Amino acid sequence: MSRETVDLTGLQHAFPYPRSATGAITDLGRLILASIEKSGPISFADYMAQCLYHPEFGYYARPGQPTVSKNGDFITSVSVGPVFGKLLAHRLYKFWRANGSPAVFTILEPGAHDGTLCLDILEAIGDLDPTFRKAIDYLVHEPLPIRHKLLRSKLQGKASVIATPSKYQGKIGALIANEVLDALPVPLYLRSNDQWHEILVTSNAGSLGWDSQPAAPKLPKDLPEGYVTEGPPKLSSFMTPPARMFKDALFIWIDYGLDEEALYHPARTAGTLRCYFKHEACAHPLENPGEQDITADVNFTAVEKLASSMGFQIHPTMNQSRYLTYCGKDWLLSHPSPHEISQFQTLIHPTQFGSRFYALEMTKGNVDPATVFK
Ligand SMILES: C[S@@+](CC[C@H](N)C(=O)[O-])C[C@H]1O[C@@H](n2cnc3c(N)ncnc32)[C@H](O)[C@@H]1O
Repeated sequence: MSRETVDLTGLQHAFPYPRSATGAITDLGRLILASIEKSGPISFADYMAQCLYHPEFGYYARPGQPTVSKNGDFITSVSVGPVFGKLLAHRLYKFWRANGSPAVFTILEPGAHDGTLCLDILEAIGDLDPTFRKAIDYLVHEPLPIRHKLLRSKLQGKASVIATPSKYQGKIGALIANEVLDALPVPLYLRSNDQWHEILVTSNAGSLGWDSQPAAPKLPKDLPEGYVTEGPPKLSSFMTPPARMFKDALFIWIDYGLDEEALYHPARTAGTLRCYFKHEACAHPLENPGEQDITADVNFTAVEKLASSMGFQIHPTMNQSRYLTYCGKDWLLSHPSPHEISQFQTLIHPTQFGSRFYALEMTKGNVDPATVFK
């Protein structure tokens, strides 16, 4: 049976960057090629999972490389300085007090990376109220064992390092996730001949190349020929364990992203998938596997729909500028130092972290959300 020919030029529009002229391939690239040659093409989501989370050669498995930092490939709000953690500590304090100042309050931080945000939050909580600090049971969660070792040595017992939230129970508490949803592997799709095709990664004369197969994702059908986009990651398997962990909770997701209408707008013909290497968003996803970040905008509609189906109450999403300003109302009145004000300005400035990033809050159980507006 002959396979329908699919025009893959939409992918060139999505990733217009040249592949390396040297044809250099990483150790991880060699492993992926060998596996494709043995077992056939793999989905882009599987490729992205290997690139980021291969236990030895994945992007997040290289502790010696400063990936998330000013010396690395990209920065996050955490890299700006401790003020981000301080503002989140204020938010958590408000929630804790509004819910009766419980004697034990669990904080779960997936994607804690090197533990910086955890330490910033704990220090700020200690300054705010020693009783609140005493109540905190802080859990940090990272998928790769190599990061667990690093986290343990950095956190020195101030937080517990866990491999999965599924074994833990917290009566009341909070989840804080900064830029984690954007790091979950996503499938890639291409619209061709009036149907969707899933993009696969294959071996092409000894290097990585594109292939495709017909697919039926839950994506709009009235999109132009050659349209490339990413589908949602496996949100359910990521969100279910933390959701089950808590009886009563506030979950705070901070990330760049869009609602579904904007994400799948007909004019967004190249999707949102991109790669970062040394602060430049200009690398091809098949280039340097394991040595560059690969990320996609969060589909906030998909996150909200799933959370609602899990029984969460969803609160209005707002951009980081508004969110942190509300969180920091009391802090701003306490005469922060010029150095801290400068961090705050970076965090809320529209051309830096203020308008591209959003905070999505949701609550579960019988809690007073103590929303930031109040
Ligand atoms: C972009 S970095 C953000 C790090 C940190 N939260 C910050 O804001 O600087 C994404 C982090 O999420 C972690 N991560 C990815 N998938 C995860 C998962 N399923 N559970 C927990 N952490 C995850 C990665 O290992 C990485 O450390």
